Amino acid sequence: MSELIISPPAAVEGEYTPPGDKSISHRLAMLGALGEGTSEYIHFSEAEDCQKTIEAFSKLGVQYDLQKAVGAGPQLKVKGVGLRGLAKPSGELDLGNSGTTMRLILGILAGQPFEARLVGDASLSQRPMRRVTVPLRQMGAAISGRDDANFAPLEIRGGKLSAIEWENKAASAQVKSAILLAGLYADGVTSVCEPLVTRDHTERLLRLFGASIECSEHKVAVQKPECLRAICFDVPGDFSSAAFLIAAALLVKGSNLLVSNVGLNPTRLGFYNVLKSMGAAIEIDRVKDQAEPVGDLRVRGSRLKGITIDRKMTPFLIDELPVLMVLCALAEGISTIFGAQELRIKETDRIRSMASGLRAVGARILEREDGCVIEGVPELLGGRVSSFGDHRTAMSFAVAGLRSRKGVTILDSECIGISYPGFEKDLRSVCRM
Ligand code: S3P
Repeated sequence: MSELIISPPAAVEGEYTPPGDKSISHRLAMLGALGEGTSEYIHFSEAEDCQKTIEAFSKLGVQYDLQKAVGAGPQLKVKGVGLRGLAKPSGELDLGNSGTTMRLILGILAGQPFEARLVGDASLSQRPMRRVTVPLRQMGAAISGRDDANFAPLEIRGGKLSAIEWENKAASAQVKSAILLAGLYADGVTSVCEPLVTRDHTERLLRLFGASIECSEHKVAVQKPECLRAICFDVPGDFSSAAFLIAAALLVKGSNLLVSNVGLNPTRLGFYNVLKSMGAAIEIDRVKDQAEPVGDLRVRGSRLKGITIDRKMTPFLIDELPVLMVLCALAEGISTIFGAQELRIKETDRIRSMASGLRAVGARILEREDGCVIEGVPELLGGRVSSFGDHRTAMSFAVAGLRSRKGVTILDSECIGISYPGFEKDLRSVCRM
């Protein structure tokens, strides 16, 4: 069980390139498996979660070759087996901690003529799956599991699917993606309506792989394709991982950090927009507008003001809310976050973990059912906090340590590898002590 000890630096400075985007990497590993021919990716994510996707599809008969190339980051080659080439796995598929893998693979397995059993770790086994299993059953898949297929272990037997029009009440990109992936196997046009727009990587990548996708602001529709092609793709840096170093630079006076080659997909930029409203010195530069937009960010140490976050904003910054709470804890005035109940069903209950951990290191934070109220202080006291076994909770507390009197020690910090194995090294490389 490892501990991560973070003390305040004199400044956060230099240039930093975040690791490849985790959400995009999951989808590339899956869609590459379903393509005709070999897909090749550079800067593929090294997150343990993405490794779970690779392991699961390897058990379904797909060949992956992951190489570490000097200077170019990890490269992944996937030998696609085509839409109908997956094989029945010989054992169960263990998806570890990865909610994205479980929800998205369910969509693909819904279209396969064989049975598979999906299991996860203690956290994943408590995360709600009915939001995915209900629409997939409606399309024609047979799924069973605890509490009427709400919790893993889940058994799925795919079959002949029919297209549906689904109203996504959960504001979840994972749910939308599972249904669109099942739509690759369903006769007709499968569509998902979302009252609150969520990240659109699945739509963008499906189009690149050759599927016919129609998007309007609140509706996405996919037509069953004959086949998917293979592609080459350079994975943008993960904005959600970069968020921790962006927050680090904002919190430490005199900092000046260049974040290069980071994904700037508009559905992921809620954190950037909120930081602007809080008075942060952060600028976007050199944007390349491509299938997934990429650019650089310049971030300087800033005096932040409190902010109000409402339900409509949450899907655009859902993974950044824990570290935003840290920034609010050190901003001037009161911040309020509401309409963020989805945080309670992440890898841990992130409203509870963040409120209790931040309070333990000297923040003024009141937990609410759907968010929290935070009164900013100029500096935290510091101390020892649990990671709650959650990678983003752990990294958020590390950021809190950068502006604390005694520093912050995060217990059981190995969970950080779930999304960002290089976090400590990257953070230390830009901290001048
Ligand atoms: C993800 C979507 C989000 C996010 C998760 C990754 C994805 O979950 O929190 O880390 O890759 O689609 P929801 O869509 O369930 O909110």
